[in-house]
Amino acid sequence: TEQTYIMIKPDGVQRALVGEIIGRFEKRGYKLVAMKLVHAGTDLLEQHYGDLKGKSFFPGLVKYMASGPVVAMVWEGKDVVKQGRVLLGATNPLASAPGTIRGDFAIDVGRNICHGSDSVENAKKEIALWFGAQDATIQYTRAQDAWIYEVVRANRTL
Ligand code: GTP
Ligand code: MG
Repeated sequence: TEQTYIMIKPDGVQRALVGEIIGRFEKRGYKLVAMKLVHAGTDLLEQHYGDLKGKSFFPGLVKYMASGPVVAMVWEGKDVVKQGRVLLGATNPLASAPGTIRGDFAIDVGRNICHGSDSVENAKKEIALWFGAQDATIQYTRAQDAWIYEVVRANRTL
């Protein structure tokens, strides 16, 4: 089953949007399989955003992300990597559609309240980075999966 790494950034926590953001993934039908509150250090954040190291906004990004706790989560379900980013909205909230998390709750790109993995490959890397290389996610069955998916096979949604 596909998994993605979703993170509520420090501004999302400070603005009391944790329940709102989790609720949107839950209500869509995705399954929460790992979650923790983390006050990340600079090393972890520099690794997480390693591919942005050369950007002018990189130091500010790391400082912002280290400014308070984040909610680190793994969500599971069909096409969740791509759909997770659809739920978040465009990187720049000024370009995010209403109905998306950023389009409903954010204005500045440097305070865009949430993160989502941009590919299945990066999702695997980010889950390992934030939750450890071992299988940190929880496998469990939800009765509602039979009402969300047309086909549910042995606890594995396609
Ligand atoms: P994430 O889900 O957070 O990874 O966002 P993204 O994949 O939509 O965008 P990207 O990975 O390119 O950038 C990571 C984060 O850096 C963004 O979410 C923003 O918080 C920040 N960022 C990106 N571009 C800019 C910029 O031009 N200015 C500032 N201040 N921050 C930026
Ligand atoms: Mg990104």
